[in-house]
Amino acid sequence: MQFPEYRPRRLRRTESLRRLVRETHLTVDGLIYPMFIHSGKEARPIPSLPGQSQLSVEGAVKEAEECMRLGVPAVILFGVPPEEKKDAVGSYAWNDEGLVQHACRAIKKATPDLTVILDACFDEYTSHGHCGVVLEGDVDNDATLENLARLALSYGRAGCDVVAPSGMMDGQVGMIREALDEEGFAETAILAYSAKYASCFYGPFREAAGTASGFGHRRGYQMDPANGHEAVREVALDVGEGADIVMVKPALAYLDVIARLREETDLPIAAYNVSGEYAMLKAAAERGWIDHDRAVLETLLSIRRAGADMILTYHALEAARLLGR
Ligand code: PBG
Repeated sequence: MQFPEYRPRRLRRTESLRRLVRETHLTVDGLIYPMFIHSGKEARPIPSLPGQSQLSVEGAVKEAEECMRLGVPAVILFGVPPEEKKDAVGSYAWNDEGLVQHACRAIKKATPDLTVILDACFDEYTSHGHCGVVLEGDVDNDATLENLARLALSYGRAGCDVVAPSGMMDGQVGMIREALDEEGFAETAILAYSAKYASCFYGPFREAAGTASGFGHRRGYQMDPANGHEAVREVALDVGEGADIVMVKPALAYLDVIARLREETDLPIAAYNVSGEYAMLKAAAERGWIDHDRAVLETLLSIRRAGADMILTYHALEAARLLGR
């Protein structure tokens, strides 16, 4: 038997050797915790996202304080408005007294050092569940942009740190940047959902956020899961329009896209470990088919290894607890 000269197993022999050669480190620093804000007083558990609930504003403040205790640096908020607030264009989204605006103010007051990101999209607020203004059966790009500018300003007034447009409208980053700059919010950052795919893995989110199933599909504005080069073009556009952070969503079926964008841009990259990814892990763990805690950490580590600097994940709090052990 001719042994190879280089024997990789030498460096795997002990834990201290493994620590010495470890390339990727998962820490709490890059974790972003998504929260759903509803108008009820009680937390309402979300069946398809075990461990997650729709929260009242007070409940969200408590979770924000828990983030601070555990060292999770950021939250992203989604509104779950009552049905009667929904209309054809989603105008409740840019109401300064809306749920998300209230929650943002309350969180910034209680935990000023926690970064608050607000998701800028209309699907939670429209009666049809699409991400913008529907004209002649299709989401109209430019009419939706006008409303996105209104939304971003309302978020700026609510004092958020980061606005995150997720509707995949062309020009959304530039429109929001311009609106923010003109109204004195030059310091408000933009996290662009640059490569957001038309994915089946958003299923549980749509239950969590109560978005109407509506008509049709989102393949006319979200990206085709078959496309990788197009993600590079989308990121270039968003960078040109003033994005501060770019995002790939979902994460796990798109690790190649994350790795590729890592080569293409020096901006921070975020990845969204979406609701369906969380639900799959929870379901398998509930059945005893995988080790829950190890699966959580391995999943998040793999997204970091692919090249993401930060991860939006429903696992954020439990991962922070696991990492703190
Ligand atoms: C749109 C939005 C969606 C998610 C985040 N922002 C849903 C969609 O496009 O259908 C999905 C997040 C998840 O699945 O965890 N406002």
